[in-house]
Amino acid sequence: MNYIVHSVLVSDGGDSFRIDTANTSYVIGIQDGLYLGHFYYGAKIPETDLSYKTAFAPPMSPVKTSRELCVFMDCYNFEYPGWGTGDSREGALKAIDSNGTSRVNLLYKGYRISSGKEPIPGLPSTFAAEDPVETLEIDLQDPDTGLSVTLFYTAFPECDVIARRVEVKNEGGHDLDLQRVLSATMDMPGVDRQGRPFELLTYHGTWAREFTKEIRPIGFGRTGVVSICGKTGNRMQSFLGLVSPAVSQEQGQVYGLQFLYSGNFSSMVEKGPNGDIRVSMGIHPEEFSWKLCPGETFHSPEVVLTYSDAGLGKMSRNFHDLYRAHLIRGKYKDKKRPILINNWEATYFDFDHDKLLSIAKQAKECGIEMLVVDDGWFGKRNDDNTSLGDWTVNEEKLPGGIRRLSDELSAMGMKLGLWFEPEMVSPDSDLFRAHPDYAIAIPGREPARSRNQLVLDVSRKEVRDYLFDSIRKVLESADIAYVKWDMNRHLSDLYSAGLPSGRQGELMHRFTLGVYDLQERLLSAFPDLLLENCSSGGARFDPGMLYYSPQIWTSDDTDAYERIRIQAGAQTLYPLSCLGAHVSICPNHVTGRTVPFMTRGIVALAGTFGYELDITQLSEEDKAHIRRQVELFHTYNDLIRNGDFYRIASFADNGFYDCYGVVSKDKKEMLLTFLHVMNQPCMPNRHICLKGLAPEKRYRVFLVEESSGKEKKDIVCEAFGSTLMNAGIVIPCMYGDFQSALYHIEEV
Ligand code: GLA
Repeated sequence: MNYIVHSVLVSDGGDSFRIDTANTSYVIGIQDGLYLGHFYYGAKIPETDLSYKTAFAPPMSPVKTSRELCVFMDCYNFEYPGWGTGDSREGALKAIDSNGTSRVNLLYKGYRISSGKEPIPGLPSTFAAEDPVETLEIDLQDPDTGLSVTLFYTAFPECDVIARRVEVKNEGGHDLDLQRVLSATMDMPGVDRQGRPFELLTYHGTWAREFTKEIRPIGFGRTGVVSICGKTGNRMQSFLGLVSPAVSQEQGQVYGLQFLYSGNFSSMVEKGPNGDIRVSMGIHPEEFSWKLCPGETFHSPEVVLTYSDAGLGKMSRNFHDLYRAHLIRGKYKDKKRPILINNWEATYFDFDHDKLLSIAKQAKECGIEMLVVDDGWFGKRNDDNTSLGDWTVNEEKLPGGIRRLSDELSAMGMKLGLWFEPEMVSPDSDLFRAHPDYAIAIPGREPARSRNQLVLDVSRKEVRDYLFDSIRKVLESADIAYVKWDMNRHLSDLYSAGLPSGRQGELMHRFTLGVYDLQERLLSAFPDLLLENCSSGGARFDPGMLYYSPQIWTSDDTDAYERIRIQAGAQTLYPLSCLGAHVSICPNHVTGRTVPFMTRGIVALAGTFGYELDITQLSEEDKAHIRRQVELFHTYNDLIRNGDFYRIASFADNGFYDCYGVVSKDKKEMLLTFLHVMNQPCMPNRHICLKGLAPEKRYRVFLVEESSGKEKKDIVCEAFGSTLMNAGIVIPCMYGDFQSALYHIEEV
């Protein structure tokens, strides 16, 4: 008989563990008292001990048939494989011993169950909110090296998420050189319940083209996504999805894994000869090594796993709920963010005090609440060749400094935000002239520049101290409500003046830890600050960053047409509350495309919302659009931030229109966005079935707004939720490309 301790269950024999969430179960067991095996992850089941499955195909016993131990190691479904033991699949933990050998043979030692969840020193992690959580810790040990490994599992039952991580401790008598420490692996069947091979869902991109979805077959051998550029990057999201063929928003099995880390990653699937797969996620072993002295512990970053029996939509909502309740912190966690206007696309580097003030004044008149001064306010920065690292105000542009600007903004009831790029240094800067060794570069070799800048070695405490002090001085000098933390290149020419030669392989991970340390210090010193992370748009859009900033700039591509696809990708993984989205000027600066002003607003409403244009150049008609969009933001942002997201149709899939809705948790209301992206001749109407409503509730459907800008409070219909979700509604034909409409559905 099992005894139930909330979400973690242990079999009578103490050799099987089950972790339950509302709709899922995860089962681990011990083979011959030695090896920890992965038995099951998927829809909820009542059994904790799944050893009955061996009655059908007995596994080779590592104890009784030791003459074939190597074959056992190569076939067994491990929960966390070591290295060099005969398992030729991707290993999780590799350590070089003092004699140069690398074998890590992990044997089961014991377990503990505790209530709550501890933070990970120096790293972002999910945390318990109001509801208590439980953590299962399983200890493994390699008797030869003295390496001891603890696997941590915490269930977030209401989100159907399990968080996993690893701690590796050197309990031996001499130094060990860790060469890889992955955060989580799972050996599992390569087919879904219908026997169809799982496919791999990933998101790829580049600058201005982030979050592009790809589904591909999982071939034999290894396939996956990685980054080795020192940050997550925009080329690949670290996310990994295993999906049934023809997966849709409602149908198909889905396993989703995300990595709470902002540096190099490896997200891999390896298919073996019998079609089974090993899934792994962790810090990329390339450009990674870590010297672990006796008594020291290495903490891996966290992986969060979710399983959905009901397609991609459920996976998205699980991640959204997890991040909103258990990852994002701070004053703005559950709050509306100020509507901002950012001067980047309005002025680039060409601005001064008066120009900013005239933007702010007109913005204020339209209901905008904060001016963000982007790149160019510091040092001698009039283009992107100079001054990064010199975080002192340029008084030629801003006489009286940030203080005068902030005072004048406060007087008119506007907040102030500022752009920083703390991790960077321009060779043409006072900082670089004084401390050339602060930059990451190999002594005696010319480092590669990007945007004419170098990366600061924030793995070093003195560099972080310099940065923290200079940013603190600016933030203390005036009333600054918001910081945009940018990062516009990746790492190269790896060498840290702060590390001995035997530890140079630690630089990439220490760099990421340094970024986290700096952001944590900033938030502790300025708890009311709203931080927005950014990296040439979305090149460091990952769940690790969400622990520090409740919002991240999604893409430098602000063209609403492009944003429909980019945001659709981002919405699959992240809550709308964290997607930086602004209305910008047309023709768009990246694509040259023109989209109606109201459609630009309707697209940006599905994010943090703001403007990125020179408002002083706008017509009265467009300013009226802004006033209306501001009104829509205030009416619907609570719903958009907190509700359940349902994708109804995808422009990326159908090539003509996009449709999504956000339903309040109590199912009393829904905001439906319809985007008529491309005109299709002889296609008068679109048939749309709503989702997520309560079948038995009766609703009234209003047309709230459409891209002609005219306010329409027309009641379209009144019907039960079941009717709206099955018989649907009809969205009338719109004329021209890029048209849009917003509908509000409320309980009668
Ligand atoms: C990056 C950001 C932009 C802007 C510029 C300023 O490209 O993504 O939003 O801040 O830097 O240099």
